[in-house]
Amino acid sequence: MRSIAIVRGVPDSFADALVIGETPTIDVDRAREQHAVYTEFLAANGYELTMLESDEALPDCPFVEDTAVILDTVAVLTRPGAEARRGEVRAMAGALEALMPTRNITRPGTLDGGDVLRLGRTVYVGLSARTNRDGINQLAGIAAQGGLETVAVPVGDVLHLKSAVARLDEETVLLAPSCVDRNLFSGYRIIEKVPEEAHLASVLTLGNGSMAATTTAPQTLDRLRHSGYDPVLVDSSEFQAADGGLTCLSVLIDSP
Ligand code: GLY
Repeated sequence: MRSIAIVRGVPDSFADALVIGETPTIDVDRAREQHAVYTEFLAANGYELTMLESDEALPDCPFVEDTAVILDTVAVLTRPGAEARRGEVRAMAGALEALMPTRNITRPGTLDGGDVLRLGRTVYVGLSARTNRDGINQLAGIAAQGGLETVAVPVGDVLHLKSAVARLDEETVLLAPSCVDRNLFSGYRIIEKVPEEAHLASVLTLGNGSMAATTTAPQTLDRLRHSGYDPVLVDSSEFQAADGGLTCLSVLIDSP
């Protein structure tokens, strides 16, 4: 199987996407342009794109990451913590069921894919405003069947675990210490986000090692470059305005 990236178009209603802070002004046309650059980055790195149709009734639907977690050969369809987002899972289920076996997170569990960070054989799951203990336990049960360990990570100050911690490579993470306990990641080399950029610095590392980073965190970008990384800059300001990082916009299935 080729590597596949599942993405979803930006509806006009994206201007009303959920936000945890002050209501921002989102330029939907600009978001669409940024989304196109993002998908070009994925295609240029060998991903075959599956573009799900946008849905005006689901303003947050471009943030597909929250609807599914890929655990090697099984896809876990989530039950997002925000009720308004639960309808997003249907289209993702249709795409994934054609590709691999699927499992479901069920009530009373809630799980957002943005809270799930895979590092080697460990699945770190954010205990957040969106993901609850039951959701983590359900995911842990499925992960254990594939020989994966699950670690719960309390998350504060940001929406999801992956807003706070990003995988840079097998040994290294980019982490905001104000949002998670860095001791939980003591087995990794840690590059800290510059504190004032904790909400802005976002990185997406692909299966082939290619990396994209947001344009809005120049000091953290300097730290990455000094540590030997050379990310492609991707402007995602309109998605950041809706609390979305670079991982949020795709579900990636890497060829074995
Ligand atoms: N706007 C992203 C979320 O709230 O889920």
